[in-house]
Amino acid sequence: MGASSPKKQFSNQSKDIYKMTGSESPESFQQKKKRLNVSDFIDSNKDFVIDIKDQCNTKENCEFSVDLRSAGFHEEATTAPNSSSSQTETNSNKVELTDFEFLKVIGKGTFGKVVLAKCKIDNQFYAVKCVRKIEVIRNKSIESIKTEKSILLTLNHNFIIKLKYTFQSSEKLFMAFEYCNGGELFFHLQRRKKFPENLCRFYAAEVYHAIKYLHENNIIYRDLKPENIILDKEGHIRLIDFGLAKADVSEDNLTYAMCGTNEYLPPEVINGEKYAFNFDWWTFGNLIYEMVYGFPAFTSDLGTTDLFDKIVNTEPQYDNSVSPEVNQLIQLLLHKDVERRISPEQIPYHPWFKDIDFELVNQKKFAPPFRPSIISDTDYANIDPDFLNEDPISPKKSGKIPCYDNFDDFSYF
Ligand SMILES: Nc1ncnc2c1ncn2[C@@H]1O[C@H](COP(=O)(O)OP(=O)(O)O)[C@@H](O)[C@H]1O
Ligand SMILES: [Mg+2]
Repeated sequence: MGASSPKKQFSNQSKDIYKMTGSESPESFQQKKKRLNVSDFIDSNKDFVIDIKDQCNTKENCEFSVDLRSAGFHEEATTAPNSSSSQTETNSNKVELTDFEFLKVIGKGTFGKVVLAKCKIDNQFYAVKCVRKIEVIRNKSIESIKTEKSILLTLNHNFIIKLKYTFQSSEKLFMAFEYCNGGELFFHLQRRKKFPENLCRFYAAEVYHAIKYLHENNIIYRDLKPENIILDKEGHIRLIDFGLAKADVSEDNLTYAMCGTNEYLPPEVINGEKYAFNFDWWTFGNLIYEMVYGFPAFTSDLGTTDLFDKIVNTEPQYDNSVSPEVNQLIQLLLHKDVERRISPEQIPYHPWFKDIDFELVNQKKFAPPFRPSIISDTDYANIDPDFLNEDPISPKKSGKIPCYDNFDDFSYF
């Protein structure tokens, strides 16, 4: 900490890619809305980047084909993706969009709403991510949506959201997730300004296991932030939003792709260097910082260029409002030099975690220090009221219904 390294310039490529809105200062941060992520998907399969003209062949009477997979949730087990209890090995049945009753908007994603819906077949509530195909195509993010689905289907972990159904209409793609109504970590952080350290430690330990599990299965997540962590009714976390995740990563198969959320980007990514699992451990340090201090480690009122300059060349502010142990751990995670960062294996043994039994945490047996106040599945106390006022069903467009042929395999598990 403290010793400043020679000032580095980040690549022009990063400057061009990140034409994002300005960043927040610590003072104003709590008032602001959620941060978007961006990606140029330079490591995506180019076959999926399809010219929009090819996608707009209008076809009348385009029926939606809908498939359902009646997967059992495996709450108690934490198993490897290839094991027999992964999400893929389940029966499949057919459902239709009309099998879901859409109730309330509970979140907003990059390409559409997330709506609480009740499935009339199994009588369960789901968080249904509704994505407009035209938006996905416009943003050349077909690969992102397909990757989110394919990666989630291989996963089975206590702290990772479970995808239960995918289906589609002529205009939209739908992903029905296990519904967690404890609210986003971002929502609770905004309310409380910052979390007490014992709560931060608990969330950090659960997130640690989720990330470790992904890495053991050669997946990098790349979008860790309080917006992408939600709580279940008991107060355990779930990692959601696998739109930027990448599979088949190894130390021998690194990637260059520029994607993530500005404030959380590691310096090596901004510098256009190759990276792998180090991306997520940097963001893990950022997450702990934001939870204990109440604002991100790196912020700027002057925009993205200044923010990136700070990430690459300056240290976050540390003070004694938090424990010396947590300051030290964050410094070890946010070391500019990848080689000198604390290794993932050492993290559970850091003094800040001395009161946490990581094995118990992994088995979901460590009692959450905070239990969200929820009285029923349709209790919206932990949802941002701005979302709840929105119409869960977008008005149907008049005229011919476009048909986008390249999502044929989306509905199949
Ligand atoms: N399973 C879920 N249960 C409850 N809320 C959810 C769930 N999945 C998503 N949400 C809400 O919807 C928001 C957007 O979902 P997300 O998957 O992060 O979309 P995007 O990829 O576009 O960011 C989340 O931040 C969260 O508030
Ligand atoms: Mg998100």
